[in-house]
Amino acid sequence: MEGILDKFGRPIRDLRISVTDRCNFRCTYCMPKEIFGDDYVFLPKESLLTFEEISRLATLFTKIGVKKLRITGGEPLLRNDLTKLLQKLCQIEGIEDIGLTTNGVLLGRYAKELYDSGLRRLNISLDAMDPEIFGEMNGRGTKPDIILKNIEIAKEMGFQMKVNMVVQKGVNEQEILPMAAYFKEQGVTLRFIEFMDVGNDNAWSFDQVVSKKEIYSQLSNSFDLEPIDPDYFGEVAQRYRYRDNGVEVGFITSVSESFCSTCTRARLSSDGKLYTCLFASEGFDLKELIRSNKTDEELLKAIETVWGNRTDRYSDERTEQTAAKRKKINMSYIGG
Ligand code: GTP
Ligand code: 5AD
Ligand code: SF4
Ligand code: SF4
Repeated sequence: MEGILDKFGRPIRDLRISVTDRCNFRCTYCMPKEIFGDDYVFLPKESLLTFEEISRLATLFTKIGVKKLRITGGEPLLRNDLTKLLQKLCQIEGIEDIGLTTNGVLLGRYAKELYDSGLRRLNISLDAMDPEIFGEMNGRGTKPDIILKNIEIAKEMGFQMKVNMVVQKGVNEQEILPMAAYFKEQGVTLRFIEFMDVGNDNAWSFDQVVSKKEIYSQLSNSFDLEPIDPDYFGEVAQRYRYRDNGVEVGFITSVSESFCSTCTRARLSSDGKLYTCLFASEGFDLKELIRSNKTDEELLKAIETVWGNRTDRYSDERTEQTAAKRKKINMSYIGG
């Protein structure tokens, strides 16, 4: 296999790029408003990587095996002129796939611009069809209708789309079947995500997790599903399809069936730190290197060393104790 391998023989294939740490939602499981309130200090503009810096780094990552980019936030559509960055990224040789993960609030406004920039894949987060439940979960009282309408707009424009639903016990389990029925009809892939202990702010515990097994058992009482083989090495979601219409559903089982042994993902924060795991405590400061006029060779060497030394397998090791005690970066900072 081409490119560099980490300590467990895993290649690097995906780079997830966060373009802002800000968000217009305050999801209870990600940016609880008690912590991310009016006085919360977000990154200052000058510490964000510029589009030139992001493109330069993304290009360097292709030299060691990255083929897939994912743009995240916070909420990436809050970053000014994001489509200009996408235009640049779409032109990088060696990049085969670019996706963007968004909460969908601003999608109606930007869908055309995004499509024109060359982007073709969107993952949209939506946790409930019920207005009360969704409003409560997003922390802003935003109704699902807005997101559903924007999903339709983006679908008509030709985007390939997936919807992500984080399932949390006692919060939105009752939404599993209504969400599945709606998106099956719409022909859009819905993915159920097990609630994870990202960051240190979401008061996570094992007993709030609804496992894939439980979700699958609810689904299979109502729908006839068949498994689908993974599309590529290290695919995050376990995929199934409805036998009657072929529409897919997926499960992201970081808690009940971890997938660290095939994890090919690196993460770049909006202030230019490189993280080799979603649950890392420390990142490697690439911005500092870039801004001290290092050459491409020097940058590449540094990136290779970081990946070559990688030993992360947090989800394999997760216990109630690591979840509570380990210092972890925030999901909104690193984009999931
Ligand atoms: P696709 O290319 O469409 O498969 O994207 P994706 O599923 O990698 O990206 P998305 O941003 O939609 O992420 C969906 C969920 O998977 C989020 O909750 C992520 O935090 C989670 N996820 C993605 N990669 C990893 C990973 O490496 N480890 C863990 N634990 N969770 C991950
Ligand atoms: N557990 C699982 N998924 C989460 N996301 C954000 N926080 C969590 C969490 N604690 C999801 C978002 C989005 C994706 C990028 O990550 O809902 O769909
Ligand atoms: Fe919610 Fe995503 Fe914003 Fe976090 S970054 S608060 S998950 S919309
Ligand atoms: Fe990769 Fe870390 Fe997630 Fe495991 S926990 S799959 S190593 S990002």
